[in-house]
Amino acid sequence: MSKSKHTEILVIGAGPGGYAAAFRAADLGKKVVLVDRDEHLGGVCLNRGCIPSKALLHITKVMDEAESLSKMGVTFGKPKIDVDTIRQHKDKIVLQLNNGIASMAKARKVEFIQGSATFISDSEVQVSHEDKNQTITYDYCIIAAGSSSSMLPNIPKDNKNILTSRTALDLENIPKDMLIIGGGVIGVELGQVYATLGSQVSLVEFLPNLIPGADRDIVKPLERKLKKQFKTIMLGSKVVDIKEGKSKKIKVTIDRDGKNEFYEYEKILIAIGRKPNTDLLNLGSTSIAVTDQGFISVDSYQRTSVNNIFAIGDISDNPMLAHKATHQGKVAAEVACGHPSIFDPRAIPSVVYTDPEVAWCGLTETQAKNEGTKYTKAEFPWAASGRAIAMGANQGKTKILFNPENNTVLGVGIVGPSAGDLISEGMLAIEMGADAEDIALTVHPHPTLGETVALASEVFDGTITDLFIPKK
Ligand code: NAI
Repeated sequence: MSKSKHTEILVIGAGPGGYAAAFRAADLGKKVVLVDRDEHLGGVCLNRGCIPSKALLHITKVMDEAESLSKMGVTFGKPKIDVDTIRQHKDKIVLQLNNGIASMAKARKVEFIQGSATFISDSEVQVSHEDKNQTITYDYCIIAAGSSSSMLPNIPKDNKNILTSRTALDLENIPKDMLIIGGGVIGVELGQVYATLGSQVSLVEFLPNLIPGADRDIVKPLERKLKKQFKTIMLGSKVVDIKEGKSKKIKVTIDRDGKNEFYEYEKILIAIGRKPNTDLLNLGSTSIAVTDQGFISVDSYQRTSVNNIFAIGDISDNPMLAHKATHQGKVAAEVACGHPSIFDPRAIPSVVYTDPEVAWCGLTETQAKNEGTKYTKAEFPWAASGRAIAMGANQGKTKILFNPENNTVLGVGIVGPSAGDLISEGMLAIEMGADAEDIALTVHPHPTLGETVALASEVFDGTITDLFIPKK
């Protein structure tokens, strides 16, 4: 059976970008329909990404901290792991947030329709669920259909031991050994979860470094820790073949320094990046332009090449991060509602939620060197922070890159516990055009990790008394 309806705003995708767009448009007085293939709102981030991974990373961080207390005179017994209870705990957190979003949608009278959306033309979308189809027309459409895990070519199909971030987060069991393919954000976060829960984790990364987007110095403390937690980290190495073995194990051939090496693993996790879900929308029936990388082309108002259609989040550009999607979603909703709005941030923060956390925003040193951008660097080592020492976090550091012409902040990199929270001060400094003196003269509470941002600025200003820096 097919029916049709009209709405002022149609939002495709109920992730952090899509529901923010839908709610903002509803708050601005529009009739909004929000469509998602999943019955639960929240998208990949809530259901199969950011939130469940953080629930697991919290557990493994506490396990690790409990173990580290033995150096401080408190020893616990070996942890007993009940995977079913861990899974239920994680699912309960996700459900609580699903229900929160659903009740906010209801309170705003946003109509939620479960189904897969495909375009019929520039002005119509078909939404299908099981044997039901309906056509929706709209004044404005906001596409927030997200991304999916990229896959290696020629891997065995439907093998339950070949995981993506989605199935790895299902935490079916704790394998004795596993190979993580990809040393980016997902690879190191989930690798640390599985290693702490008891798997022997090996990791293979194509490039010479882990977390290639971040500066080497802020990744180093994490890399040192992962080297202890993982069985092996194979950098600059490439997976050339994956086969099902005779036993249930997966046979993997890895090219290391030009020589093929052969391994077998109980499970492998493929975390080699994500691709925009552009193919699922039948965009060929529209005039929406798509880039060579498969993203939907947008301008600074998130408008596509069709005037009344917007695209936001992972489907419109990199970085594929929830907080970027949320901001873009609000911009698209506001522009569609006739408000002056533009997506024009000076920076977007990145956080790796491992232990230690790694976070950075704005200019990185690697980028500055590649682009020939001039900068002056100031660092505060956490080995000089009383708070960090008390926490056993001496390996951390806070680094700020300043513009040598006017002393404003160009970029910040932090490694250590809570780096992901601390980076917000760097973001605010960049957005507000703060200079070193603004930060150094802002009274920060002592003893906190947050004061390392002010102390790094004091290093730049030459006013630091918590370190001795010989005069040049
Ligand atoms: P990624 O782009 O962060 O890392 C993928 C890594 O795989 C890269 O280092 C790449 O060099 C490597 N690689 C690619 N092909 C390979 C091959 N054949 N063999 C070995 N290594 C190979 O992608 P990832 O980790 O899959 O994450 C996907 C997206 O999800 C990212 O865009 C990230 O921004 C987002 N995400 C963000 C999180 C956060 O903000 N904490 C957490 C999880 C995901």
